[in-house]
Amino acid sequence: MQLSTRHLLGIKNLTKEDISLILSTAEQFKEVLQRPVKKVPSLRDVTIVNLFYESSTRTRFSFELAEKRLSADVINFSTSGSSVSKGETLLDTVNNILSMKVNMVVLRHSASGAPHFLANHIPAAIINAGDGINEHPTQALLDAFTIKEKLGNLNGVKVAIIGDIMHSRVSMSNIYLLTKMGAKVTVCGPPTLIPKYIREAFGVEVNYNLKETLDWCDVANVLRIQLERQDQVLFSSLREYNLAYGVSKNLLDSLKKEIIVMHPGPVNRGVELDSDVMDSKQSVILQQVENGVAVRMAVLYLLSNRTN
Ligand code: CP
Repeated sequence: MQLSTRHLLGIKNLTKEDISLILSTAEQFKEVLQRPVKKVPSLRDVTIVNLFYESSTRTRFSFELAEKRLSADVINFSTSGSSVSKGETLLDTVNNILSMKVNMVVLRHSASGAPHFLANHIPAAIINAGDGINEHPTQALLDAFTIKEKLGNLNGVKVAIIGDIMHSRVSMSNIYLLTKMGAKVTVCGPPTLIPKYIREAFGVEVNYNLKETLDWCDVANVLRIQLERQDQVLFSSLREYNLAYGVSKNLLDSLKKEIIVMHPGPVNRGVELDSDVMDSKQSVILQQVENGVAVRMAVLYLLSNRTN
């Protein structure tokens, strides 16, 4: 089996079969990562550039580790110290790097659509590592992998996505993936942080009440408040946000069942998640990060194996 696409630009254009293939391939790579020797020769002779035009800790290291575990040759680019400061464009930068015989490009960029633009202009396979407020496909895939690992399935699972839905590429990719795979999704947060027509456009439910949402769900995927993407005041203060929408241990203990708590990171401790929730056994945040390596190995392997 192979993916229906040459690039991973988003979840929006993946089929259900593509998603299942990536998740089942990731299971095999997770098994590889439990071995004493965590390396396989699958991408020997493949060269990959990680182009990070925006800050990252998890995604950048996860891709780099996934590439190295697959025996690829890896080069890393970040804007500081590069010729971007001299005015070089994205396309010129990428074309110069590709002329050094690079096969795949992993791109994180603050502009929504930057990976789609590159895919139309260069011959290499492009993997979107997060573009503006558009999509973060490998995050949604690793979130889905983690839910499946914990609950055995995605179909019928009730997932609440909580917080800054408006500015979150993670929420968009999660909504596309979960609804395609038969999960039920409710978004929850202040009305100012939830797009107006999200119910009609994406087939999700909206609930502005955190306690009701947590009572309903099996999984709470709590999002970071993205202050860097908000150009106006969308809620009164971080303290008031925490009082209305912060997930606390008391709140979790008041529910009738034990739910799973996820967060893509980085976490604003004490804002969207209280510290004792983050460090509790209900939190699978570090398992998400661990699973990210296997999921990214699967994506890289399947894209490199795709015959045109
Ligand atoms: N989840 C995520 O994208 O984290 P980073 O910004 O650290 O890569």
